[in-house]
Amino acid sequence: MTNIVKNAVRTQIPGPANRFPFGVLLEYSPNSLAFAVKATREYGRIFKIPFGVFNVNLVVITDPEDIQRVLQDNNQAYSKQSNFKMLINQVLGGESLVTLEGNIWLPRRRLEQPAFHREYLNGFANTMVDATQKLVERWEGFASRREQFELGAETSKLTLEIAGRTLFGVDLSDPNLELGRAYDGIVKYYSYRSSNAFAPPPNFPTAQNRAFKESRRIMDQAVLETIAQRRRQPKMQTDLLGMLMQARDAETGVTLSDTELLGELNGMIFAGHETSSNALTWALWLLSNHPEIEQKLRAELSTVLEGRTPEFADIQKLTYTKMVLDEAMRLYPPAWSIARQALEDDVLSGYHIPKGTSIMIFAYGTHRDPRYWTEPDRFNPDRFLPEAASSRPKYSLVTFGGGPRQCIGLQFAMMEMQLALALIVPRFRVRLEAGHPVQPMPAFTLQPKGGMPIRLERV
Ligand code: HEM
Repeated sequence: MTNIVKNAVRTQIPGPANRFPFGVLLEYSPNSLAFAVKATREYGRIFKIPFGVFNVNLVVITDPEDIQRVLQDNNQAYSKQSNFKMLINQVLGGESLVTLEGNIWLPRRRLEQPAFHREYLNGFANTMVDATQKLVERWEGFASRREQFELGAETSKLTLEIAGRTLFGVDLSDPNLELGRAYDGIVKYYSYRSSNAFAPPPNFPTAQNRAFKESRRIMDQAVLETIAQRRRQPKMQTDLLGMLMQARDAETGVTLSDTELLGELNGMIFAGHETSSNALTWALWLLSNHPEIEQKLRAELSTVLEGRTPEFADIQKLTYTKMVLDEAMRLYPPAWSIARQALEDDVLSGYHIPKGTSIMIFAYGTHRDPRYWTEPDRFNPDRFLPEAASSRPKYSLVTFGGGPRQCIGLQFAMMEMQLALALIVPRFRVRLEAGHPVQPMPAFTLQPKGGMPIRLERV
């Protein structure tokens, strides 16, 4: 035991009492977000959630100092949480950067990092603009017909098309493609498994498990065929698969095998599609409720773009657009929690954390902590003006995680979302269907419960 652990004064982390047989599982499992919000109010910046006979030690943290310790300063003492890892690997059919650890993760991250550098991202801007222009065309139709539609379905179609095309040159959002439907099945299966504590394991022959396995088979076969075809006819490809196929470990010269490439593509699509889609959905809804902010955003777009189509070089100039997105993701972080497991004893907020403890970094709670965010529930992009941002602790905002495992797709995501707002906001105003309640719901990402039925108004 380290000195720091010996000197820890407290061992009893506050939290609800354990109960036989499942502790608070039956209240926690159907809506872990609402449970954690309530418990944060009651117990503060660190608390324990008991699960009865399951004997899982789950500790929730929201304090920036604790988060910095787990994600950065003492990150080698924490791994990804084992249940989370198991579920992701089952759903994705194998390991990827998202779940790999230690000695295997580091060289993989080094190998992939260059593919996310600005110079490469530059090449994706056209695809992002092109996909958003297709959305704008569809929306012209919705607006003319005053037709109601589901906002999330549209942003999801957009980011899925972008992910598929930039990753391996296939439009996964095409409903006519078997592949698009298969991918949809995989995402739904993840939500089902993650929100049903008693869902039977994948090998049980239930209808859900069978449908999932078929979706997984279709998806993997398509990706492996693309890889095989490219191995047969190697030519310079500028999508991410192309870059990953050429990437070589700087020390060993080793390249990725087909199975590793498959895992990586599956991981990237999964990590990058629904996250950006939900962030855009929340941002458009928040803008519709704040006309003065929407107006200010429109003014920036008009000054920077002067009516032309946005391009890569504009991204850096669209500063208010970025602030709007940062603020939308503060309020509704797509990754509303981040899971870790203690590999050794540690101390957080003065409490002893025994080896094996599952840690939930409750990003949603941190992002609304009134110690760092005045009027935390108010949508106010000015919080992200440089002087305001520099006065807060770094880890009071963990939208993209932090430390060595910070999101590799951060710049990719910001760019696709900035370009999307730049094309949508000058043309349309989003109007939520009157009386529809909006409530965040935790799944893989934070989604609006019951969706967001909207109509459009032309600007
Ligand atoms: C708004 C959009 C996005 C959000 C909010 C987001 C959030 C996050 C967060 C919080 C993590 C850290 C998870 C942890 O520490 O356990 C992460 C990791 C990751 N993200 Fe993102 N992400 C977004 C978009 C993307 C995109 C577009 C891609 C890929 C094209 C991507 C690929 C990844 C990968 C591969 C990891 C694992 C990195 C590693 O562990 O080395 N993400 N993301």
